[in-house]
Parts: sequence; structure tokens; C-alpha cells
Amino acid sequence: MNETISTILRRRSVRAYRPDPVGQAELELMLEAGRHAPTAMNQQPWHFTVIRNPELLGKLEEHCISAFLESKVEALREVAKMEGFSVFYHAPLLVIISGDPAALAPQNDCTLAMENMMIAATSLGIGSCWTNAVMMHYATDKGKAAFAELGVTFPKGYQPYAAAAFGYPAEPYPETPPKKADCITIMD
Ligand SMILES: Cc1cc2nc3c(=O)[nH]c(=O)nc-3n(C[C@H](O)[C@H](O)[C@H](O)COP(=O)(O)O)c2cc1C
Repeated sequence: MNETISTILRRRSVRAYRPDPVGQAELELMLEAGRHAPTAMNQQPWHFTVIRNPELLGKLEEHCISAFLESKVEALREVAKMEGFSVFYHAPLLVIISGDPAALAPQNDCTLAMENMMIAATSLGIGSCWTNAVMMHYATDKGKAAFAELGVTFPKGYQPYAAAAFGYPAEPYPETPPKKADCITIMD
């Protein structure tokens, strides 16, 4: 198996992080990998917002957790009530990829960029976890106001399509969760 495949297979959603900051050189490589993802008609209709100010992360966390607490999905409400729960898992770095809703396929573009970033992070020994609370909270008027109040703004008209926490794993990488195998049709 080559190194790329093995990195893809090794990536896990990491939910416990050390507080140490992600190195600047590593962050730049991850962003470079993100910016090289394919986009519909090469529009690259995106913006990468990197938040590593601990105070700002803490405040954003408080706002985003309300997206879970106020969700219609019972499982999300329950998880958010668990003692010590953090939507960002106390990671030292959050990346939000916002995109232009008027582009051809902004959600696909931003998601592909985030996956590139996650794979790049894995290759550098950095863990990651997608965090849906950012998009869920931003989708509400209350959430938009909270982001603006905290100064987390995006280019005009852009909205967040992908968000993930990054950091050095506090524990060994989690076991691979079950992955479906009966989901492939090959037509020769
Ligand atoms: C669209 C999307 C939303 C997700 N939202 C969350 C989330 O809000 N919190 C979280 O801990 N994990 C989230 N995840 C991570 C999944 O739970 C995880 O990818 C899945 O359980 C498989 O585990 P693995 O990533 O370790 O292979 C999300 C993943 C995707 C693709």
C-alpha cells in the first residue's frame, strides 16, 4: 500500500486534543492541500478562516453548543448535555471554509477542500474532526448575529459550508469505526 492510501485509511475523527498549537508550517501545508482541491469549473469560490485565538474559540464554542442544545434531533441535545462536552473537543484550531452560495457547487467544493485538509493533517500527525455545529448555528438568525458579534465574518454573501477542529491527538488514534463494504457495484 502506498503512503497516500495508508494516510487516507489512517484518518479518524479525533475527539480529544492536546492544547499545543498546530505549527505554522503544518498549518500552511494543510491550507495548501485544501486550496488544491478540485472545484466546479475551477471557480474556487471559497475562503478559509483559521481561528486559533483560545478566547475566541471558547466564546464561539459557547454559541455553537446552543445549536446542539436547541436541535430537533434528540441525540444531539443529549450529547450536548454530557458533562464536559465541547463541540470543538477543546482543539486549539478551528478551520471554517465558507463559500459563495451563487457558485456552481459550493458545498461540494468546500467539503472537498476540507477533506484534503484532513488527509494532509493526518499525514502530519495532526488529528481532525468535522464540526457541524458551526453550519447549524450559522443557519439561524441568532447564530449569524453571534458570529458577527464575535467578529467571525466571511466575505460578503459567503456562508460556512465546512468546519473542522484540528490539533495533536491527546490519545492514540481511535479504532476504525465499522465501514460498510457492501456499497460497491462494479459494472464490467
Ligand atoms: C457532514 C459531517 C458532519 C459531521 N459532524 C460531526 C460533528 O458535528 N461532531 C463530530 O464529533 N463528528 C462529526 N462528524 C464526524 C463523523 O461522526 C465521523 O466521520 C464518522 O463517525 C466516521 O468516523 P471516522 O471519521 O473516524 O471514520 C461529521 C462528519 C461529516 C462527514
